[in-house]
Amino acid sequence: MSDRNRYSSVSTINHWVTALLVVVMLALGFAAAAAPSETVENYVLGVHISLGFFVLIFIIWRVLFRIYEGFPRNVGKTALERWAAYAAHRLILILLTIQVITGPMYLFTENECMNVFGWFSLCLPLESLSMIHEPMEWLHLNIGLYVLPVLLVLHFIGAIRHYATNSPQETPADM
Ligand code: HEM
Ligand code: HEM
Repeated sequence: MSDRNRYSSVSTINHWVTALLVVVMLALGFAAAAAPSETVENYVLGVHISLGFFVLIFIIWRVLFRIYEGFPRNVGKTALERWAAYAAHRLILILLTIQVITGPMYLFTENECMNVFGWFSLCLPLESLSMIHEPMEWLHLNIGLYVLPVLLVLHFIGAIRHYATNSPQETPADM
């Protein structure tokens, strides 16, 4: 952990761009899961995959930047609160990394490409790894539909508590 008490301005921008992108990715994922027909599901997933290309790049950049910069000290009135923030922040980044790997791997292992809004396609011929196709799908769906949403709701509650119980001078991040 770094000895800084504040998040840098790059971190703050990274945080809010990721928050926006991930909420849109979740909304598209949920919309695909609830689609009334296969045509609609495929269309929504096409948008999910296209945007996913940019989300993949941004999440990799964001995680590498966090590793480079380190985490500032977590705030919280009790040791439990600090531990919960410590664990949740790392877990969110780990799960996002898994999502942006399992999504493309799900496609590549069945010989499909990532078509980005019809502008270009990203293909990796990984059909020889077809035995990991289903585990990739299982991870992607369960993290995306259940684990990540629950964690983000807890994160949101934690952030509200953080804003509600800290005076502006005590707040380490202008997030
Ligand atoms: C409206 C919603 C959100 C609010 C109010 C919020 C607020 C915050 C705050 C205050 C912190 C700093 C905590 C501290 O000082 O110890 C933080 C950190 C963090 N948040 Fe959020 N957040 C929101 C949404 C999200 C979303 C959607 C994601 C993930 C997609 C996310 C991921 C993270 C991560 C990974 C950290 C750790 C530091 C970092 O690497 O940026 N947050 N958030
Ligand atoms: C933070 C990033 C991501 C989140 C939160 C997320 C979330 C989700 C969710 C909730 C679903 C379930 C949809 C359903 O049940 O039909 C899903 C499906 C899917 N996602 Fe993502 N996803 C992310 C990134 C990506 C990326 C980068 C790709 C790139 C290709 C991708 C490709 C797919 C595919 C192909 C499916 C359909 C899987 C199937 O048909 O079984 N996702 N995603």
